[in-house]
Amino acid sequence: AVGVLVLSTAAAVGYLGYKVYKESYPADQSKQVSTFEDGRKKKTLVILGSGWGSISLLKNLDTSLYNVVVVSPRNYFLFTPLLPSCPTGTVELRSIIEPVRAITRKCSAEVIYLEAEATEIDPINNKLTIKQSTTVHSGHSGTDTGSSKPTVSEDISTSLQYDYLVVGVGAQPSTFGIPGVAEHSTFLKEVSDSIKIRRRLMEVIEAANILPKGDPERKRLLSIVVCGGGPTGVEVAGELQDYIDQDLRKWMPEVASELKVTLVEALPNVLNMFNKKLVDYTKQVFQDTNIDLRTNTMVKKVDDRAVIAQTKAQDGSSTTVEIPYGMLIWATGNAPRPIVRDLSSKIDEQKNARRGLLVDDKLLVDGSNNIFALGDCTFTKFAPTAQVAFQEGIFLAQHLKRLDDIESLKQKISAPGPQDNVDRMSKKLVKLESSLEPFKYNHQGSLAYIGSERAVADLVWGDWSNVSTGGTFTYLFWRSAYIYMCLSVKNQILVCLDWAKIAMFGRDISKE
Ligand code: FAD
Ligand code: NAI
Ligand code: MG
Repeated sequence: AVGVLVLSTAAAVGYLGYKVYKESYPADQSKQVSTFEDGRKKKTLVILGSGWGSISLLKNLDTSLYNVVVVSPRNYFLFTPLLPSCPTGTVELRSIIEPVRAITRKCSAEVIYLEAEATEIDPINNKLTIKQSTTVHSGHSGTDTGSSKPTVSEDISTSLQYDYLVVGVGAQPSTFGIPGVAEHSTFLKEVSDSIKIRRRLMEVIEAANILPKGDPERKRLLSIVVCGGGPTGVEVAGELQDYIDQDLRKWMPEVASELKVTLVEALPNVLNMFNKKLVDYTKQVFQDTNIDLRTNTMVKKVDDRAVIAQTKAQDGSSTTVEIPYGMLIWATGNAPRPIVRDLSSKIDEQKNARRGLLVDDKLLVDGSNNIFALGDCTFTKFAPTAQVAFQEGIFLAQHLKRLDDIESLKQKISAPGPQDNVDRMSKKLVKLESSLEPFKYNHQGSLAYIGSERAVADLVWGDWSNVSTGGTFTYLFWRSAYIYMCLSVKNQILVCLDWAKIAMFGRDISKE
């Protein structure tokens, strides 16, 4: 089986390699200019973020229509669906990130990228403040602080003017203000989180190994608690259990047999957006693989060694349980970022926007006429998923093109010329303005990896609507399809190579 896998992977890699070779290299880009040839002022479009929404917009936008500036503290795009595979090394982090510049350099016209975080938006004056935190400069002077204090991080702040602003800053992990969560747990949202989980995992394994069997401290260290039974929690629990069963068991059988993954979920079920059949299937797989699933259990407090939760029994009575942990992973969904809360507080129409920016059907922020928002930083009828953000990005690219068409026509109308021409163009303008289409979401389905090479998928596929599948085939087929659709060819090859590496040599257990 391994031989077949290696051979087919080699074939796939060969094919993809050929595609990379054929993929065009950055073409000559036109530089940013202040005016168009017809004398019209070129508008500045500032895009915040380099995640699913913003990058999808950028990839689909005709960047010669605007002077585009991208501002994001993260100078790469992160393919989040494979992030749960990273802490255990199923997939390498470098395989699922793509530099922003690799994307901007392929745009039709120059795109400026600034590695910085937006700290304040002034919607009245169309201005925003951005801040870069770095250890290499001293303030604005740009002078090297020298090696005497190389780790002191300093902030460089500057401001930017925009005509259009697109907010695509995503969300931050929610803690619901539960005491101890922020201090003691690790999230799974960014590359740095994956590295933290990896380090902690190796640490608890080695620390437990030095203690005698039966020592309660050994037992605590070997308890991994994942809080939140959404797809993030389920996928990371599955990946951790895979690591224990497929790798750690080979090298450290005793530690592996004691290492326990517990998934805690407040509601009666995990994966609540999935079909009931798949939820039950997930439960069954967890049972078979010894993942301790605790539903109806809500975490109330966390200290440095245990999670304190309330469990509801079937008769409605509740008891307090304490679950000691060596590592706690917190995955209870999203909360708005400070920049989003700050912007909401400045716009009357956003006063009630507690869970994200409110937008109209064209992604225009309620109460603004030049700020758009997409993805996880908005609160809409759609789920906060990559799939939604990705489609919103495509929509916004088209919408911004239409807005430019309108501007261009207005310019032509105002230019001197024969009256009947103006009349004709005015009619066209009215038609253009009234035909601006709203965003339509096309749900393709939900997919989650649940461990032991199995996945669950709720699919919506034309006439085949609502096909629910679970199992190994689902895992192989749908994961590949997703990767094929969304990653760059380079990243596709890297992910395939990672998978082949694991099939041949297993995952690594060294501490980095
Ligand atoms: P993000 O992709 O989070 O991007 C936000 C960007 O904004 C980042 O580049 C960030 O650095 C930047 N930023 C942050 N603050 C600022 C600031 N102040 N100024 C400027 N920039 C800023 N969805 C699916 O559909 N399928 C999946 O399989 C799936 N798997 C997932 C697995 C994991 C582990 C996680 C965490 C999420 C997963 N999701 C999945 C959800 C998906 O990742 C999000 O819905 C998606 O990332 C939202 O896109 P976004 O552009 O709104 O935000
Ligand atoms: P989520 O919001 O989907 O799930 C969080 C879970 O945590 C909920 O089930 C909730 O009941 C539970 N919870 C909340 N507070 C709790 C507490 N105190 N104690 C115990 N349980 C508690 O969050 P998640 O998984 O982080 O996903 C965020 C978004 O990203 C979702 O929209 C999801 O669809 C998307 N995503 C999609 C993936 C996929 O399609 N494969 C993978 C990962 C994320
Ligand atoms: Mg984004």
